[in-house]
Amino acid sequence: MGLCLTLVTLAAGCAGPQSALQPAGRGAESIAQLFWWMLAGATVIWLIMIGLAIYSVRAHFGRERHGRVQLLIIGGGTAFPTVILTVLLVFSMPMIPELLAPASADAVRIEVRGKMWWWRVRYLNPPGQDGSPIELANEIRLPVGREVEFELASDDVLHAFWIPSLGGKVDMFPGRMTRLRLEPTKVGVYRGACAEYCGDSHALMNFDVVVMPPEEFDRWLQGQRVDAAPPAGPVESLGQEAFLRAGCQACHAVRGVETRGAVGPDLTHVGGRLSLAAAALPNEPDALVRWIADAPSVKPGARMPPFETLSDDELAAIAAYLKGLR
Ligand code: CUA
Repeated sequence: MGLCLTLVTLAAGCAGPQSALQPAGRGAESIAQLFWWMLAGATVIWLIMIGLAIYSVRAHFGRERHGRVQLLIIGGGTAFPTVILTVLLVFSMPMIPELLAPASADAVRIEVRGKMWWWRVRYLNPPGQDGSPIELANEIRLPVGREVEFELASDDVLHAFWIPSLGGKVDMFPGRMTRLRLEPTKVGVYRGACAEYCGDSHALMNFDVVVMPPEEFDRWLQGQRVDAAPPAGPVESLGQEAFLRAGCQACHAVRGVETRGAVGPDLTHVGGRLSLAAAALPNEPDALVRWIADAPSVKPGARMPPFETLSDDELAAIAAYLKGLR
């Protein structure tokens, strides 16, 4: 019963939007395949070792067995691991050039910068309306079946970029660029995470990854290119006024409005994202209010200060305005 429960729990941990064992990309497929081979090998070796341990406890060795024991130590302790490790090396080496090869010229190019504790995402091709990259935050959308090349770096401390369902993990360094090539093979919503301990809110530094059919992706990217929609109604207009009065534009950009803040996430299309605050909250008005009112209570160490001066009506109006930026 206990064993069954353990197995069920373990198996459940292998599924979901953040599973390296349910690959949805070329790199992840190779990595999962290597994992299963290694697991099978490890299981066989484990069974042999347990067998030998039981044998050694039960058998009665005399002096005459000394030669056989020595043979076992040399064979099992030196020759066997050398053969196994050589086979694994030969098996895994061909994967490295495949995982690290440069992407083709028509690959989608995306720059991602790790921040304490969120992700700045820039689509480098095609450029945005003003010629600069199309910027968003904490969400990455990709076309299925097309190559993607990420240019990864950090603006503060070490982070690591990892979308387990799509491929391998790559460190992000301040002042140095690393690259990661991926090719999603299945449409779906996945989850990426920071895989390098980076401070207070490391565990709250995640992002959504949406793999879409190519035509849908092109339409979405065109939508991200355009400036923010004007406020749709009176509440949203009040929200925009309160947003500017509170000084939010000092840190945040909303393209099409007189805002050029570059410290925090670009909010031009924040209303259309799947989650808020690097996947720490759902993208809903109540969560927006909670986040704006007191971000550090949600995410310890967050750079955005609490806005205690805003009234409940102002908070609700700002939330309505931001939710309308799709
Ligand atoms: Cu960024 Cu951990």
